[in-house]
Amino acid sequence: MDEKDDISHESTPLVKGSPRGKFWHWCKTHKLIVIPVVVMILLLPLLGLLALNKQHARADYTSPIIYPSPQGYGAGNWTDAYTKAHAMVSEMTLEEMNNITLGVVDGSTGCVGVSGSVPRLGFPGFCLHDAGNGVRNTDGVNAYASGLHVGATWNTSLAYERAVFMGAEFKRKGVNVALGPVVGPIGRIAEGGRNWEAFAADPYLDGILGAQSVRGLQQSVIASVKHFVAYEQETNRNPIAGEDNTTQSTSANLDDQTMHELYLWPFQDLMYAGAGCVMCSYNRINNTYACENSKTMNGILKGELNFQGFVVSDWAGQHSGLSSANAGLDMAMPTSGYWDKNQLANAVNSGDFNKTRLVDMATRIIATWHQFGQNETGFPALGVGMPPDLLAPHNYTDAKDPAARSSLLQQAIEGHVLVKNSNNSLPLNRPKVLSIFGYDAISQSMYNPDGTGLFKQDWEVLSLNSQQGMDIGSNAPVENPPQTAQGVLYVGGGSGSNTPAYISAPYDAIQARAYDDGTAIFSDFTSNEPAIVASSDACLVFINEYASEVWDRPGLADSKSDNLVSHVASTCNNTVVVIHNAGIRLVDAWIENPNVTAVIFGHLPGQDAGRAVAQILYGDVSPSGRLPYTVAKQASDYGKLQSACQAKDSKDPTSPQCNFDEGVNVDYRNFLAQKIRPRYEFGYGLTYTTFDYSNLNIKINATASANNTVLAPVYTNGTTDQNSKTDGVSNGGLQSLFDSVGSIQATIANTGKVAAAEVSQLYIQIPASYLNAKNPRTQVLRGFQKVTIQPGDSTTVTFPLRFKDVAIWDVVRQAWVIPVGEFKVFVGKSVLDTPLEGTFST
Ligand SMILES: *[C@@H]1O[C@H](CO)[C@@H](O)[C@H](O)[C@H]1NC(C)=O
Ligand SMILES: *[C@@H]1O[C@H](CO)[C@@H](O)[C@H](O)[C@H]1NC(C)=O
Ligand SMILES: *[C@@H]1O[C@H](CO)[C@@H](O)[C@H](O)[C@H]1NC(C)=O
Ligand SMILES: *[C@@H]1O[C@H](CO)[C@@H](O)[C@H](O)[C@H]1NC(C)=O
Ligand SMILES: *[C@@H]1O[C@H](CO)[C@@H](O)[C@H](O)[C@H]1NC(C)=O
Ligand SMILES: *[C@@H]1O[C@H](CO)[C@@H](O)[C@H](O)[C@H]1NC(C)=O
Ligand SMILES: *[C@@H]1O[C@H](CO)[C@@H](O)[C@H](O)[C@H]1NC(C)=O
Ligand SMILES: *[C@@H]1O[C@H](CO)[C@@H](O)[C@H](O)[C@H]1NC(C)=O
Ligand SMILES: *[C@@H]1O[C@H](CO)[C@@H](O)[C@H](O)[C@H]1NC(C)=O
Ligand SMILES: *[C@@H]1O[C@H](CO)[C@@H](O)[C@H](O)[C@H]1NC(C)=O
Ligand SMILES: *[C@@H]1O[C@H](CO)[C@@H](O)[C@H](O)[C@H]1NC(C)=O
Ligand SMILES: *[C@@H]1O[C@H](CO)[C@@H](O)[C@H](O)[C@H]1NC(C)=O
Repeated sequence: MDEKDDISHESTPLVKGSPRGKFWHWCKTHKLIVIPVVVMILLLPLLGLLALNKQHARADYTSPIIYPSPQGYGAGNWTDAYTKAHAMVSEMTLEEMNNITLGVVDGSTGCVGVSGSVPRLGFPGFCLHDAGNGVRNTDGVNAYASGLHVGATWNTSLAYERAVFMGAEFKRKGVNVALGPVVGPIGRIAEGGRNWEAFAADPYLDGILGAQSVRGLQQSVIASVKHFVAYEQETNRNPIAGEDNTTQSTSANLDDQTMHELYLWPFQDLMYAGAGCVMCSYNRINNTYACENSKTMNGILKGELNFQGFVVSDWAGQHSGLSSANAGLDMAMPTSGYWDKNQLANAVNSGDFNKTRLVDMATRIIATWHQFGQNETGFPALGVGMPPDLLAPHNYTDAKDPAARSSLLQQAIEGHVLVKNSNNSLPLNRPKVLSIFGYDAISQSMYNPDGTGLFKQDWEVLSLNSQQGMDIGSNAPVENPPQTAQGVLYVGGGSGSNTPAYISAPYDAIQARAYDDGTAIFSDFTSNEPAIVASSDACLVFINEYASEVWDRPGLADSKSDNLVSHVASTCNNTVVVIHNAGIRLVDAWIENPNVTAVIFGHLPGQDAGRAVAQILYGDVSPSGRLPYTVAKQASDYGKLQSACQAKDSKDPTSPQCNFDEGVNVDYRNFLAQKIRPRYEFGYGLTYTTFDYSNLNIKINATASANNTVLAPVYTNGTTDQNSKTDGVSNGGLQSLFDSVGSIQATIANTGKVAAAEVSQLYIQIPASYLNAKNPRTQVLRGFQKVTIQPGDSTTVTFPLRFKDVAIWDVVRQAWVIPVGEFKVFVGKSVLDTPLEGTFST
């Protein structure tokens, strides 16, 4: 989900009253602002003409119709589940089938969504609940490291372990479907409000870590992979019901190659891993809503990727009745104004809707229930551990497994990225005097559900003003949202937030060290210009960068926090900055100051934030995180990928358009393509030791695709039953895409004095060909391995490559092909620091 139904549903604005009347009242009281605005409005037609001129050059984007919706048939290891589902659904009436395709209002649990049931046949329905970083908004649960933090760990086994523990918590709480993991947004725009929920601004890293998360979660529950697809901004994510007109959701306009090589890429890995549910997103794609887009759901997801589970709408993301069903939507959440009065069953009876589709919808839902063993008597009752109101008497269900504790701490530690460390400022060495500053060093002052049952970490209860509340209520873009949050930022806001049993703040953990070391601590967590004790060995400054679902960030740094750092650094010549950042955070304002000796991007570590950062500051462990995105020297270096597309920039502002003209070149690929040197590149991060790379060994046996290559299943309008009759196609689509084409190896030596983990990275530059004239091809991540090496030791790392890793999407042949030519190979510490280079040819 996404937000509570009443907040995001277009037809039920949160705040009643006439916006227009309020606007005129506001104008009267703000004359000084209104006059320049009027002048601007007079200029607009001229600007509009200029914009139109540019727009004329482009064709409008539309999505083709792809009917009928491919039927699930039990591909791969879903055979038994489908056999059971067919048996059960054949007993159902049309009304019962209709009943399980939508959510019902059920106030008896804390589930954010409850599906209809079939009591007569023993199907209890599903409890669906947020989200990808842990169980949200209840008691007795852990807050895991957030998606972006896990991305920064570059640790596949840790990602798996995290998901195993997290999935078990969802199950203990009576959740059938966990609404995660997130592999979209991918991070097309730097200010994206939800970039922190996904792992990385790179499809390969997202795909590998996302697949591990699916495997882990699905040990216990069904994973709902989200958001499908090309959902890259919060601004205008949902329609705005105005008085005269409706402003539609932003349309993500992208070509087929960009779809396959960037936005779809991670989803395919997660489908291959056996994901049981996919959530369609709020945005439009080529002007058709994601939850009624037959090209993306029927053609790509259920056709090309052969998805056997069910598609659920994002909360209130359904905008049509029969069209959405025909386009491949299987379940509407949290309720449906289109399917809730037996409309699907009635339409079958009147001949307006094909019964096969309704049967397929019900079969996909029931098959998924069987596939994950949830019909067994041991599965907890719906939402059993999540009371609807924590303030009312309820039985406490402790879902936390003590065995998860070391994993939680390890996740928190490994997502910290050290980017500056001059004069060996870190690690601290039994400091005599420490000064600690910043609003982020301590816990938030209130951690208790308020009257609505919401916790303080959610955006809903940040101190927003009434205009912002009205904007949220009507889905309008939120003006000047907060950029920081009071208290240590261990998670971002919205449906991806969570509410752990405790929060370890940096100050708490450092206090404990002070006790051990006999350190004197001075602190000020409120002043913007704290006084600084001259004997301080180091000054630690904790700041954060908040982001939340519902809005995109208003910038990439905030001046209040920057001023605090600059103030401390003006007096303290050993200033150490820790930023808990829910996304890219620029450091231009003070990074060149030599008194700023160390900087750590702390991301969103979950409940062990303080304990983890203390272990790094004091050198118990060497930092081992690497940036899963690019930090520029200045905001303008991101170009048009800095900020969200705005409705006013579209020819028709009621139909906002966002053209993904950059193609696959987002984040580091954009910097490479534009030849702009960033401050800290993708993959970058320091440790307390040094590593040496040698012995590049390329063992690739890939041949250029012949023209009779095995094709991915292509679903055009009228395609029926193709996959069930095609060899080589199973969960995730064409299986040969995942076949090995060999591997690349390198030797890494720890040449420093302490044990540390290195994140070795493989980048490949695929040869240019007639297929990619539009955007330059850059090197792309195609392998990574994290290894801990003792000082003086060395080890060999191996990067296995799959067919898909060396292929490109040929839009004409509708196939992944390996192009002819010379592939460049780069192995090293980051995308810009690759001491080993080589080639192989096809
Ligand atoms: C969107 O339009 C582009 C350009 O016509 C096309 O290449 C692409 O396949 C379309 N994608 C979808 C999902 O409709
Ligand atoms: C539909 O689902 C609701 C909610 O679970 C349930 O109360 C009702 O009995 C179901 N209707 C039918 C016809 O099974
Ligand atoms: C509403 O939008 C439609 C198409 O987007 C446009 O043709 C129409 O003029 C708009 N109406 C008003 C009152 O703005
Ligand atoms: C089905 O296959 C997936 C992916 O290979 C695997 O993770 C899962 O455990 C299998 N499930 C069953 C029921 O065999
Ligand atoms: C309903 O869909 C099935 C499967 O796609 C198809 O075989 C059948 O002809 C359709 N029926 C009608 C009446 O269109
Ligand atoms: C679950 O489904 C299987 C197959 O339909 C059946 O054998 C088993 O008895 C069911 N379990 C329960 C508890 O209903
Ligand atoms: C708590 O659980 C007990 C035992 O299952 C039950 O009798 C009691 O009604 C429950 N209390 C609440 C408030 O749900
Ligand atoms: C660095 O700190 C010293 C005090 O130790 C101060 O005199 C100096 O001005 C500071 N330098 C900068 C560039 O802020
Ligand atoms: C930093 O300032 C302290 C006094 O505040 C001084 O003793 C020390 O030498 C300075 N260090 C550097 C590197 O300038
Ligand atoms: C390379 O691949 C081709 C085709 O897949 C295969 O026939 C050949 O045996 C492979 N060679 C090696 C050395 O693995
Ligand atoms: C494959 O087809 C393309 C044109 O579609 C042609 O240019 C190319 O030479 C062919 N390649 C092979 C290996 O036959
Ligand atoms: C193709 O799509 C149209 C809807 O645009 C539909 O009416 C028609 O039946 C479809 N054709 C086939 C062969 O499925």
